[in-house]
Amino acid sequence: MTELILVTGATGTVGQHVVTALSDRDVTIKIGVRDPETVSNEIADAGELIEFDFTKPETWGRALTDVDGVFLVRPPVVDKSEIGAFVEAADRVGVARIAYLSTLGAEKNVLVPHHWIEKRITATDMEYTLLRASFFMQNLLEVHRGDIVEYGEIFVPAGNGETSFVDARDIGETAAIVLTESGHTNQAYDLTGPEALDYEEVAAVFSDVLNRPIRYPDPSLLAFGRRMHRRGKPLGFIALMCGIYTTVRLGLATRVTDDSQHLLGRRPRGMRAFVEDHADDFHGDSQPHRGSSGNSAGSGYVETRRPPLPDVAYELVNPVMSRLLRSPLHSLVSDSIPLLTFIGSRTGNEYTTPVGYWVKDGHLVVTPTLCISHGASDTT
Ligand SMILES: NC(=O)c1ccc[n+]([C@@H]2O[C@H](COP(=O)([O-])OP(=O)(O)OC[C@H]3O[C@@H](n4cnc5c(N)ncnc54)[C@H](OP(=O)(O)O)[C@@H]3O)[C@@H](O)[C@H]2O)c1
Repeated sequence: MTELILVTGATGTVGQHVVTALSDRDVTIKIGVRDPETVSNEIADAGELIEFDFTKPETWGRALTDVDGVFLVRPPVVDKSEIGAFVEAADRVGVARIAYLSTLGAEKNVLVPHHWIEKRITATDMEYTLLRASFFMQNLLEVHRGDIVEYGEIFVPAGNGETSFVDARDIGETAAIVLTESGHTNQAYDLTGPEALDYEEVAAVFSDVLNRPIRYPDPSLLAFGRRMHRRGKPLGFIALMCGIYTTVRLGLATRVTDDSQHLLGRRPRGMRAFVEDHADDFHGDSQPHRGSSGNSAGSGYVETRRPPLPDVAYELVNPVMSRLLRSPLHSLVSDSIPLLTFIGSRTGNEYTTPVGYWVKDGHLVVTPTLCISHGASDTT
């Protein structure tokens, strides 16, 4: 008889890939979601949608009926005690096996909820597999995409610590493997990508693949906290991020294992493959524009201001400045006056002009000038 697998967190970063990977296998999938109305067709079509909420035990009975295996995710907002109660309920109704998405180092780190949940799982009669995952590459897409798209930078307080990033798609595939194939009973796997990279190296991969400069400004924890606070992020979020990136700073996220390779039967996806596959997601309307002067200050949020002098002053000065900036003597002024090339939003024409700039609150503020004789009205 075909096995029935309940997938929790099925709309999440990893759960969606567990559903996809299981749908290629000879199993029936129960997809436990809080609101079946909001689920994408891709996920909904893969199995039976069922209302399920860790915080509503009245939804557990239907979700667990006839289920042979469970893929368990602890949503970050759910208290570990509710996950523990659900694990015990699954055991009581006779679920045979469970695969749990845990975190790297959970066996030693008593501070993370995963440590406690793992202990609850191993104390049951269910066959278990613990998938202790490293840092997801998808965090760069889901948490840090705005900085990459708008400011051309990866703004995390990770210092020069390395991370053995893993792709959530590979975790999804390994979950499907351990739930449907033999040989993984009562095992724990450390799921990492193929290499450990620091954020300078990550930024270099992004720059290369996206063909525009992506910087890693290496902010201190304080600078990171200040910027997040200005953006109105809750203190809990800031503290969590600082906690996570402190472990990276301390070199605790660097371990690479071959468990993913062993389970997948191939090399796990690396950072380059991840960025290539999501390149479209990292392009946005407000992409930083590469200046023709090559001045690296060109990457970042650009705010334009009209200068205080009459236009005629700039019409006289700018052609001279443009020539100087294109000449071998450009270093006399290019530290403070780069050339900015941009496409007019109305005409589509390409313009180049010398600009003044300064940095304010971590943002690049650019003073536009009027060296351009045509189409200046579509430049703002
Ligand atoms: N990010 C990392 O680098 C990393 C690394 C290792 C381990 N982890 C662990 O991975 C887990 C998170 O996995 P993820 O990133 O795939 O999840 P996620 O993207 O944060 O999504 C959470 C999922 O849980 C569902 N959910 C939220 N509240 C729920 C509730 N009350 N009852 C039932 N379902 C609920 C959400 O569904 P709806 O909102 O659609 O209802 C969603 O499908 C965490 O335990 C985290 O510690 C993360």
